[in-house]
Amino acid sequence: MKSWSNKILLPLFFFFLFYSVAYAGSYTSSAHGNSSYGVNRSSISGYSTGNCAHCHEQHAMIGGTEPKPASGSASPFCLFADNFSGKTSNPYNQSDNFCFYCHCYTDATSLQTPNFTNYNYSRTFGGYTTSSIYSIYKAFNQNSYHNLYDIWDFAKTNFSSFFKEDSNPCSVCHNVHLAKRNKENPDDPTYSAISKPSDHFNLWTNTMNDYAPNKYQAPYRYSSGCEPDGGSCNDLTIQAQKTPDYVTFCQDCHVYNMSSYGLSHTPINWNTDKHGNAIRSRNERMGQPIIKPPYDVTAVFNYVLSCLDCHEPHGSYSYKYLIRKEVNGNITNVTADTHDDWKTLCLRCHYREHTNKSCLECHYHGSGKF
Ligand code: HEC
Ligand code: HEC
Ligand code: HEC
Ligand code: HEC
Ligand code: HEC
Ligand code: HEC
Ligand code: HEC
Repeated sequence: MKSWSNKILLPLFFFFLFYSVAYAGSYTSSAHGNSSYGVNRSSISGYSTGNCAHCHEQHAMIGGTEPKPASGSASPFCLFADNFSGKTSNPYNQSDNFCFYCHCYTDATSLQTPNFTNYNYSRTFGGYTTSSIYSIYKAFNQNSYHNLYDIWDFAKTNFSSFFKEDSNPCSVCHNVHLAKRNKENPDDPTYSAISKPSDHFNLWTNTMNDYAPNKYQAPYRYSSGCEPDGGSCNDLTIQAQKTPDYVTFCQDCHVYNMSSYGLSHTPINWNTDKHGNAIRSRNERMGQPIIKPPYDVTAVFNYVLSCLDCHEPHGSYSYKYLIRKEVNGNITNVTADTHDDWKTLCLRCHYREHTNKSCLECHYHGSGKF
């Protein structure tokens, strides 16, 4: 990827001065800009915690030990390292993505002091504390992962109003100058960590209850209570109001046909899937309800699920498809495309298993039986 020319670097430098003032409010209330737990790269001195300089170097080099620039030209956006290497598949090295210099916990050497963790969704919101994923870097280095090159490529075409050649694939879903710590406030989506690609300059704070009023049942957490914070499972509105609207978020991209990226069941249409807005065709089979608690066939005639009830957003252990390790209070084990493996997912919420074929032969997004 090309480096930024001085034509862009110089105005960017002056823009920092302006931007620091103009955006002071939203930036200082973001996780990076916080003066107590925000960015603090220990290799540079003289800058307070949260200062832009921990990520942007207004001069080519501030001093101290730097991964970049090694020889001459500065990195795009004056970042202390290249935003993205363009590597087309994992495993990723720390130097493949700027964010991995801090969001790596102890899976690589972090430049951030003090160090901090980012668990996966199954742990932070699903309560599965046995998970061994402690960092974003590790999350993307699992079997199944959102391919950063494909995300970058897709965003260049479809979100070109803000996403540039030199942009970071993480920036499609996050705005570093706004992102907050939902993990510290799992009951409050206004502490959102994400920005919808089509609305990059705002945090995404809509909830599942906005998307599907009184139709979203939060699944069980691993230990007790329901997602995202362990609250009571008995109210259809309260937990839904705490859960970000991941359907609208993910569908910013997945309404597109992605067969060129190897996804033959796209576009995903949540209006015609039964786990989405389509109404299920039966309540019971042979006297047994088709869904397990906390779902209740007598309470809601058309449940609408969140994408993150089944998927991780970054990566997962599964052989494919970002399947969560913990779903509806128990664990899954999808390491191959087999009947026995897939039923560990489906039977978290269903009683029925039939045939000895892989469930995916008949049940998948868009099949009319999913
Ligand atoms: C210089 C170190 C550093 C770099 C580089 C960095 N971050 Fe962070 N990030 C932090 C710190 C520190 C926090 C606050 C973590 C905490 O207190 O738990 C944070 C928090 C976040 C959060 C809020 C959720 C959370 O973890 O609490 C998001 C989202 C985030 N970073 C995304 C990114 C992305 C995307 C990039 C790359 C474009 C990036 N960060 C680069 C240090 C960094
Ligand atoms: C396809 C969209 C997408 C991409 C690409 C993406 N993220 Fe995320 N990220 C999410 C979503 C959704 C969440 C909120 C759910 C969660 O915390 O698991 C999240 C949460 C986070 C958090 C907070 C985790 C916590 O501890 O609560 C951090 C930090 C983060 N992402 C960093 C990154 C970094 C760094 C990259 C690039 C290497 C990246 N993300 C790429 C969608 C994305
Ligand atoms: C910025 C656009 C974008 C957003 C937002 C996005 N995705 Fe994706 N997703 C992609 C692209 C591109 C691919 C194809 C490349 C790949 O497999 O990683 C993909 C692939 C996938 C796959 C298949 C992965 C595999 O290993 O087989 C799943 C599952 C998935 N996305 C789920 C989600 C979920 C859940 C969300 C919301 C948290 C989401 N996506 C948000 C762009 C996006
Ligand atoms: C956690 C690291 C981090 C911190 C802290 C940070 N930035 Fe950024 N900034 C980035 C990244 C990464 C990009 C590139 C965005 C992309 O990938 O498209 C960027 C881009 C920019 C841009 C280009 C326009 C844009 O929004 O994409 C400006 C201007 C900017 N930053 C100013 C600032 C200022 C001023 C501060 C302090 C108030 C600051 N940044 C703090 C990481 C950071
Ligand atoms: C009930 C669990 C469940 C929910 C909820 C769910 N998915 Fe999936 N998803 C799966 C399974 C199982 C597969 C593998 C079968 C397939 O490809 O459809 C999959 C596959 C995918 C794929 C890859 C499709 C391909 O062509 O290979 C994408 C992309 C995806 N899901 C996105 C989403 C999005 C976006 C949402 C929310 C709107 C969502 N999923 C909700 C279980 C779920
Ligand atoms: C997180 C919980 C959850 C998981 C995991 C899950 N489902 Fe479901 N499923 C539901 C709920 C809830 C409904 C009812 C939706 C409604 O009310 O419209 C449903 C509906 C269905 C239906 C429609 C039944 C009808 O009567 O029309 C089928 C088929 C189905 N699921 C198959 C599967 C398969 C196969 C898997 C595994 C790949 C799976 N489900 C995983 C919760 C789940
Ligand atoms: C050969 C095709 C086929 C395979 C393979 C298959 N199913 Fe089904 N399944 C069906 C059909 C057809 C229905 C009824 C369609 C509907 O109601 O949407 C159904 C319905 C269901 C339902 C909805 C509840 C009910 O009783 O109608 C569940 C749950 C379900 N299957 C789970 C599974 C699981 C779990 C697997 C894998 C272990 C699996 N199925 C494999 C064809 C299949």
